[in-house]
Amino acid sequence: MTSGERPLRSAGWFGTHDKTGFVSRAWMKNDGLPDDSFRGRPIIGIASTWSELTPCNVHLRQLAEHVKRGVWQAGGVPLEFPTTSLGETLIRPSSMLLRNLVSIDLEESLRGNPIDAVVLLTGCDKTTPAYLMGAASVDLPAILLTGGPMLNGRFRGETIGSGTSVWKLTEDFRAGRISEADLAEAEGGMSRSHGHCMTMGTASTMACVSEALGMQLHGAAEIPAVDARRGVIAHATGARAVELVREDLRPSQILTREAFENAIRVNAALGGSTNAVIHLLALARRIGVPLVLDEFDSLVREIPTLVDMMPSGRFLMEDFYYAGGLAVVINELGDLLHRDALTVSGRTLGAGAGVAPCHDREVIRTMQQPFKPVGSGIAVLHGNLCPDGAVLKQSAASPRFFTHEGTARVFDSIEEYTEWADGGAPEATADDVLVLRYSGPRGYPGMPELGNLPLPRRLLEEGVEDMVRISDARMSGTSYGTVILHIAPESAIGGPLALVATGDRIRLDVPGRRLDMLVDEAEIERRRAAWTPPPPHSDRGWVWLYSEHVQQADLGADLDFLAGGSGDPVPRQPF
Ligand code: FES
Repeated sequence: MTSGERPLRSAGWFGTHDKTGFVSRAWMKNDGLPDDSFRGRPIIGIASTWSELTPCNVHLRQLAEHVKRGVWQAGGVPLEFPTTSLGETLIRPSSMLLRNLVSIDLEESLRGNPIDAVVLLTGCDKTTPAYLMGAASVDLPAILLTGGPMLNGRFRGETIGSGTSVWKLTEDFRAGRISEADLAEAEGGMSRSHGHCMTMGTASTMACVSEALGMQLHGAAEIPAVDARRGVIAHATGARAVELVREDLRPSQILTREAFENAIRVNAALGGSTNAVIHLLALARRIGVPLVLDEFDSLVREIPTLVDMMPSGRFLMEDFYYAGGLAVVINELGDLLHRDALTVSGRTLGAGAGVAPCHDREVIRTMQQPFKPVGSGIAVLHGNLCPDGAVLKQSAASPRFFTHEGTARVFDSIEEYTEWADGGAPEATADDVLVLRYSGPRGYPGMPELGNLPLPRRLLEEGVEDMVRISDARMSGTSYGTVILHIAPESAIGGPLALVATGDRIRLDVPGRRLDMLVDEAEIERRRAAWTPPPPHSDRGWVWLYSEHVQQADLGADLDFLAGGSGDPVPRQPF
């Protein structure tokens, strides 16, 4: 078989009758594969981020079995393989430190092996962008399948959501509103099934955004992990991977400029995670699509938030699925999307969405009566604190802070902040601006999700629910509040955030898209001359390589030498 006019890539291993072919086939036969497996059938890699240290992805081996059935049925040969995985809740100091490493792991696994197409099995936050980035750099036919969200969490008759309810419940506990026993009971009801976080956090966002990009089958993003229909779509994904080889349909034909615009607009309608910004910027640079940070603002100014989901709203992914899911959102957005964008299904985005009736208008609203009005998407700010940009998720913020001036309380580490916040936060008021720095890509390292600083205990007890917080860190997609993130350039490389001091006045002007410290230029220059960079975190290994090469948040925090791709040539063979 050929892919279009091209011979199968795997024929470079299995298609010869010499020593190379003998060795390649003979050792694979210890998998129990019959000889016809190597006679012109497409080899479909099933790349998996399964790991018992990544609880959100722990069911991916079962899902792979469904994918394999589809591959066999369509005439291919499935070969499952692991890569490094990233469990958001466990891995330290930050899963983001390793996103690019996983992308390299996948890229080189694909390039070095006899694979004609790949099914990408992901779920937890960073696993999806890491795999999309790696696959884009190889540009083999590829199709994504996320593992699906958990069922709704339950606690004493209430629905609770991953992350979002954790922040709320632990703040209630800190403020003395609930007991330790209450907290333990909630902990037991949060994660009731396999699957990734079921709020519109980063995992659900990236699942939906990937479908809007065209890299998942229509309807694949939102089916709960334990719903039998996820097995059905896994089967279809495997079968489709074989067809991708026959059609020679590659990520570069799907991940177009139009696809990225679709993803950015869908993310706004979903009230999706700020992390999508950083991942899409990195992915665009891998596939060679021009995309800049400011477009995450300019492209969404006419998009309202349509979906009432945590952290911005009330519902969860299970509700979203039953309401009709992403197809309803795509149809609501209508011509605001490029409906003719090609997807991995072989159909366009619009055709894939089909008619898609909405079954619950509480969960998915209309353009005429949205959940949050036009202009509630991500705002990209500039100013003397963030010359290269910063982001604010307006739908999760308090509008009363959109035009605000307050006194800076500056902290160089989360430990320093926590000691202050739990120690009474002397003199702090609800109008202060909390500043966390040295938490960017190089500073921490790995740009952790620390930007949504928990409010000082004393202010919490007084009933304060939100404050302006700014940092060069990220925040969990499940978080909420008036939190300005991804400040670039970061403080660890001498960005102006490094020069702000406690007591300075900071002005936030969201309508004007500005974030400034009200310090005169001569004083800023004096501080700049006195500033010294922090010492490096390591002089060896991955942390050194990452710190030397990581780019700033406005470029997607990828490594500078990973932009673009190496393609999928058949490597030289050594014997
Ligand atoms: Fe894995 Fe949220 S912790 S998706």
